[in-house]
Amino acid sequence: MINNSDRVVVRGLKDVAAAETKVSYVDFNGFLYYLGYNIDDLVGKVIYAEIAYLLIHKRLPNKQELDNFKDELVTAMHLPEPIVDSIKRTPKTCHPMDILRTEVSHLGEYDVEGKDFSEAANYRRATRLIAQLPVIVATIHRSRLNQSVPEPKREYGFAENFLHMFKGVVPDESETNVLHRYMTLHADHGFNASTFAARVVASTNSDMYSSVSAAIGALKGPLHGGASEKVMDMLDDINLEEEVEEYIYGLLGDQKKIMGFGHRIYRAQDPRTKHLRGMVEDLCHRERTLGLYNKCIKIEQIVFNRKKIYPNVDFYAAVTMDALGIPKEFFTPFFASSRISGWVAHVIEQYEDAVLLRPESKYIGEFNKPFIPIENR
Ligand code: ACO
Repeated sequence: MINNSDRVVVRGLKDVAAAETKVSYVDFNGFLYYLGYNIDDLVGKVIYAEIAYLLIHKRLPNKQELDNFKDELVTAMHLPEPIVDSIKRTPKTCHPMDILRTEVSHLGEYDVEGKDFSEAANYRRATRLIAQLPVIVATIHRSRLNQSVPEPKREYGFAENFLHMFKGVVPDESETNVLHRYMTLHADHGFNASTFAARVVASTNSDMYSSVSAAIGALKGPLHGGASEKVMDMLDDINLEEEVEEYIYGLLGDQKKIMGFGHRIYRAQDPRTKHLRGMVEDLCHRERTLGLYNKCIKIEQIVFNRKKIYPNVDFYAAVTMDALGIPKEFFTPFFASSRISGWVAHVIEQYEDAVLLRPESKYIGEFNKPFIPIENR
């Protein structure tokens, strides 16, 4: 044990390794690995279900395993009726991330395997959560439009079903491909704040729903996954491309952070950015996307010239989501619907590690203050 006065506080836990992991590695030189695979070798060559399988089973599936996994996912793309009713009763003023957090917690009450916390049950639970989070997101959106959620179809893949259930129209192949890439890029990212929150909860041997609810709460914050919605607020705020410079200089002059820029780990370009920028470029035949892209390129140049910082995953993800026709308050729910595979993979790994995550603090308050009874205060 270390005496309180000798404790060294690492503010923000910067550079602290809190546990070992095999799930993913964020290299500050600008590389990201899932189970040893460089994401640059995966994006565009895999479908999202392969990545979800890789993260939770720690290896890529063969063709038969992938077919079975896709089948399991599509079969699980349903919600218990009380969850659907609860979503429908939620005030339309609630942010979708608040509803998602609540309904994932609610889902825990209807888990078909109840209190079976065996390893096998946890793998099945992880698969169900990967399948059900997007359905909660689709149900929130469609119930706000007073429209029903289309039934998932076995002949569609998982990402295709997600877009269909969310938008109510069958996506074309290019839209589905964009979603596979987006979900692959958002699936995991080391010990980010939401994953760490999930692992802290799992380390107490609490259940997977509690861990994921905590993760959703952390992801929602604008310093983490909530940044993509703020990026779109900023792009909406800048009326014309010609106004970008004045707008960004104004923010920087006021010591404000530019949303979608900077990163705790990367000292080089975030490796996900080039893929997302490329996806946006492919979608620039749409007039609105081209306009947003042009603003983004200008912002990127100005912020780099002034601060030497790069865009992070949330910057071009915002425009990608917009091009897919996703309303901005659903950007972070789509992020959560992808990151769920990483969260549950980490929760399973944390159960295996079986150690309570419980740091110390350095107390800087007073000692032995004289107690004053309430009538004398
Ligand atoms: N805009 C302007 N300056 C920035 C930005 C930014 N977005 N990010 C970092 N900086 C500057 C800081 O002002 C600080 O400068 P200083 O040393 O002169 O004071 C320096 O860079 C270091 O910044 P910190 O906030 O201390 O870095 P930290 O590692 O704690 O924070 C974070 C990382 C939270 C991501 C930060 O860059 C930020 O707030 N970015 C904006 C929000 C955002 O885009 N979040 C999404 C991150 S990706 C994700 O979570 C999915």
